[in-house]
Amino acid sequence: MSVFQSTHPLVKHKVSLLRDADISVKAFRELTNEIGALLTMEATQDFALTEHTISCWSGDISVPTLKDKQPTLVPILRAGLGMLDGALKVLPCAKISVVGLARNEQTLAPDTYYENIVSDIATRTAIIIDPMLATGGTAAATISMLKESGCQHIKTIFLVAAPEGIEVIQKAHPDVSLYIGAVDEKLNDQGYILPGLGDAGDKIFGTL
Ligand code: URA
Repeated sequence: MSVFQSTHPLVKHKVSLLRDADISVKAFRELTNEIGALLTMEATQDFALTEHTISCWSGDISVPTLKDKQPTLVPILRAGLGMLDGALKVLPCAKISVVGLARNEQTLAPDTYYENIVSDIATRTAIIIDPMLATGGTAAATISMLKESGCQHIKTIFLVAAPEGIEVIQKAHPDVSLYIGAVDEKLNDQGYILPGLGDAGDKIFGTL
């Protein structure tokens, strides 16, 4: 597995703005989408190209075009929706697969309550979208779900990640690449990332 922490100055700047405790819902939403777009650029950097002949104004030329089908974006409900529009700015033709998982209070393991994955997932790269990689339980379960549906190439994008969550994904799914805006220090006792952003879903949806 590869872990890419963005070194792009715009990503660093925008993640720093997100950390302001007094940020408005509007600003948080806008920045989340903007970083979503920038991380999607990073996650698609190794997409294969193929040469294709087209007629252009000066005659026939060979041009590079994407070799494979458009990926499917996989926002994890609900916070993942906050990065979806940004990712779609970069990949406007992507298919969308939506998953919802909630923690089972008895087992503490993530239970799936919604799953709508594109039928041809076996022929597409999946890009999982979630603002926060905390314990890694939800992301690991989503990756397992996609693999069980036949997906063979999976990438993930996160605004902020905790080292604990990265380790969980690395152990469970060494073939999956992570593209991260910032790797923070640690989790607190409630599973929140420190220094982190607080509850990203609440900040995106204004449910604080
Ligand atoms: N989910 C969040 O929204 N924030 C965290 O810090 C951890 C999980």
